[in-house]
Amino acid sequence: MTNWKEIDQNVRAWIKEAGSKIRDSFQTELNIKTKSNRNDLVTNMDEATERLFIEKIRTTYKDHKIMGEEGFGDELLDLDGVTWILDPIDGTMNFVHQQRNFAISIGVYEDSVGVLGYIYDVVHDELYHAHRGHGAYMNDVKLPDLNEVEVEDSVIALNAQWVTSNRRIDPKILSPLVQKVRGTRSYGSAAIEMAYIAAGRLDAYLSMRLAPWDFAAGKILIEEVGGIVTDLDGNELDPLNKSSLFVAKPRLHQTIMTDYLKR
Ligand code: IPD
Ligand code: CA
Ligand code: CA
Repeated sequence: MTNWKEIDQNVRAWIKEAGSKIRDSFQTELNIKTKSNRNDLVTNMDEATERLFIEKIRTTYKDHKIMGEEGFGDELLDLDGVTWILDPIDGTMNFVHQQRNFAISIGVYEDSVGVLGYIYDVVHDELYHAHRGHGAYMNDVKLPDLNEVEVEDSVIALNAQWVTSNRRIDPKILSPLVQKVRGTRSYGSAAIEMAYIAAGRLDAYLSMRLAPWDFAAGKILIEEVGGIVTDLDGNELDPLNKSSLFVAKPRLHQTIMTDYLKR
């Protein structure tokens, strides 16, 4: 039997340790490299943070598997057993340019089902966490179930690139939604955007392409407060593969799906 309570205590201690190292790194010069393109950044701290978690997980839980963004984990073909899905720094561009609005994101899955989710906003020292079936919390204060909101009163997160010409979505699809809602926001960290939905600070978030480490933890948090997490076609997410993402309060999810996405 998996001892989830013990895993929870360990993750929290490891996250706090990693967060403190990331804050200390503000005093040192970062080593910044690019990955797939000029805007896809990675730093020595992304790599060091992923290695820190992997070393601790491998020492403590020898039979667990690890999927990590920076590639120091395992090559996974399935999510059988217990799998840790890690994004050491979600929002690296913010980390580099702003030293805020980035997070450590960790989801622990068992047989493809998310059980524990953690999103740690390092600079604000806000730890969002959820245990499937036991609620979601921000710094140990339980988050209430989400309230419904009308489209015209909603604040939604989406990147402005999705309403300009891009290769993933016809910009004409989302621009009526952008015109209708009360406001749009883009924080530049999918994990923080999902934590904000769980905390009721945002009502919906749409993104055209995210990786499992971007949404693994957020999915657990949002579902614990009654939110809906799907891809842009309304299908359930596959935590092993990249996909689009559409998360929202339940009625809002349905309305945006029928009135804007499936029009
Ligand atoms: C990125 C952020 C960003 C999202 C990108 C992600 P990273 O993660 O979550 O908000 O729009 O698609 O890749 O690269 O900073 O870990
Ligand atoms: Ca990410
Ligand atoms: Ca990252």
